[in-house]
Amino acid sequence: MQTDNQNKIAIELKQINKSYQKGSNNVVVHDNFNLSIAEGEFVALMGPSGLGKSTLLHLIGGLDLPTSGSVIIGAQRIDTLSEGKLSTWRAENIGFVFQSHHLLPVLTAQGNVELPLLLTPLDNKQRKQHASLALRLVGMEERAKHLPKELSGGQEQRVAIARAIVSDPKIILCDEPTGNLDRKTADEILSLLTTLNKDYGKTIVMVTHDLRASEYASRVINLEQYIDAGKQSQLSAVEG
Ligand SMILES: Nc1ncnc2c1ncn2[C@@H]1O[C@H](COP(=O)(O)OP(=O)(O)O)[C@@H](O)[C@H]1O
Ligand SMILES: [Mg+2]
Repeated sequence: MQTDNQNKIAIELKQINKSYQKGSNNVVVHDNFNLSIAEGEFVALMGPSGLGKSTLLHLIGGLDLPTSGSVIIGAQRIDTLSEGKLSTWRAENIGFVFQSHHLLPVLTAQGNVELPLLLTPLDNKQRKQHASLALRLVGMEERAKHLPKELSGGQEQRVAIARAIVSDPKIILCDEPTGNLDRKTADEILSLLTTLNKDYGKTIVMVTHDLRASEYASRVINLEQYIDAGKQSQLSAVEG
């Protein structure tokens, strides 16, 4: 799918360095990492565990900060925002879907989906309307009053996706969204993500180990090779 908005950059990581202090060790996860994703892309991010895939999603979604470098989402540089501004920005601009749905067990599907809207200026009635719309979009309107324990794994993941899209973010970040699901249910969830990408214009970045899942994406990044290629081009720039 080639559209005009594919030329507009949705996500840009520039010269990212990210390291963690583990005891007295400094663990470098990303070293001068660069990535650019256009609006409307559906990117599958693959590679061995421990390589820093989740870390990249956290950086893109403002859940974590780079040690140095910049994170630019749309026109906004987010790594320099204050914590308060960043959480408001995140609530409006990013939807997260994790391997485990992280639904609150004491809230109904509707209640779980309304939750992120508490961070927005919407009033109670508007929150209910938006949540109902999101639940309808993922085919879960009839289960709105059910508690998570009354839902199947696939249905729980649908509710989690409704929660991720309820504030109508432009970007959806998924970390192994089908990791806990059987093949058929996984395919249903991936089809739903494809609909959100193709019909609703969401830019999606999905970490996955699943080759079948990556077939739904418009671009597959094998992170190990991508990092190597980045280092090679930096080397030849220095040598050249
Ligand atoms: N909060 C953290 N504190 C310390 N180390 C971390 C933290 N998060 C991730 N790491 C380390 O960073 C590396 C990359 O982790 P991660 O991004 O989760 O990899 P992946 O998702 O590709 O499996 C791992 O070595 C992990 O132990
Ligand atoms: Mg991970």
